[in-house]
Amino acid sequence: MHPPLLVPSILAGDHARLAESAAAVERLALPWIHLDIMDGHFVPNLTFGPGTVAALRRTSGLFFDVHLMLDEPHRYVQPFARAGANLISIHVEPPGDHAAILARIRELGCQNGIVLNPGTPASAIEPLLGGVNLVLVMTVQPGFGGQSFRGDMLPKISQIVAWRRARGLDFRLEVDGGIDLATAAECRAAGADTFVAGTSFFGAADPAAFATEFQRMP
Ligand code: DX5
Ligand code: ZN
Repeated sequence: MHPPLLVPSILAGDHARLAESAAAVERLALPWIHLDIMDGHFVPNLTFGPGTVAALRRTSGLFFDVHLMLDEPHRYVQPFARAGANLISIHVEPPGDHAAILARIRELGCQNGIVLNPGTPASAIEPLLGGVNLVLVMTVQPGFGGQSFRGDMLPKISQIVAWRRARGLDFRLEVDGGIDLATAAECRAAGADTFVAGTSFFGAADPAAFATEFQRMP
């Protein structure tokens, strides 16, 4: 299993100071940052696009974990790869040739990931597991930060981790939504290794202390 990785989500930072949020993460020697891309269709909210990611890329050496919440991700994987994404994850819910889009992400030189909403069963991604670098289990309904963690997603995490073990695969198992020190520990116990934290990180009185505390997790 991968060691636990804390991935701050810039959604919860000050959007007038995106570069400063990324720099604060980099100063803590956290290697990844999570960038939420919303289209107003797949989720009822909008964030930012490839132009903003490219601008951030010019200021940051972080690994960009780009979470596409889009109805038509195939139209956007190339622009986000060109903008400097390191990993691009797509949702399984919109219809389309997911395997082809995931392969395309790799051709573009990025790692790839597949994402499931809380209402989507693990079986929906089972056929894709052999071709992904990361599985992202949403632990809230996507669209907004600051929601409560859904403990009923823990069995789904365990199921996917069991498939990973049985097949000798080594994709990361990421969780996103309502993650704090307590809920991260629950997800860790279920087998998650990659922990997106928006509100709990950027809203912490002392994000450095939060990161230190997080890194004590077994
Ligand atoms: C929600 C996003 C999350 C969000 C998590 O749609 O995918 O990445 O930033 O925020 P918190 O950690 O506040 O739940
Ligand atoms: Zn996200």
